[in-house]
Amino acid sequence: MSILPIIEYPDRLLRKKAKPVTNFDKSLTKLVEDMVNTLHDSQGIGLAANQIGVLLRIIVLQMPDENYPRVFINPEIIDRDGNRKVVEGCLSVPGYHGYVFRSLWVKAVGLNNKLEYTKLYADGLLAQALEHETDHLNGIMYFDHLKKHEDLIKNPSEQE
Ligand code: CO
Repeated sequence: MSILPIIEYPDRLLRKKAKPVTNFDKSLTKLVEDMVNTLHDSQGIGLAANQIGVLLRIIVLQMPDENYPRVFINPEIIDRDGNRKVVEGCLSVPGYHGYVFRSLWVKAVGLNNKLEYTKLYADGLLAQALEHETDHLNGIMYFDHLKKHEDLIKNPSEQE
């Protein structure tokens, strides 16, 4: 397993729409393993393939209170509702966080790491992460959702 470099905004690959995975071969298994490894190394909670420069619809998530990663290949959010203000950051936008609105809950479908079709109902942080990472696959950054410019904040440790 490898740790892959995470690309940072404004790299143009972050603005591209990723393509559905259609080749389910060993290279996919390796890519997913590398993404999980990279996520663990970064101590983030989610990573989309765009962020390692691969334009395929793959996301990996790891919630802080869970001891296993969640893999979604060709994920789709099929339903969502509600609205809550949350604080959010992104591995591709280091040094910043921002306040955005996310759904209270989402229903997502996709293939897991065993390539089994999976349905998931999620709320809280998992729902937020699913929205953030599926946004990446569509070239959308979390700061696109800011209501006002002041909602993007530089992290205190990095302020001059
Ligand atoms: Co992100």
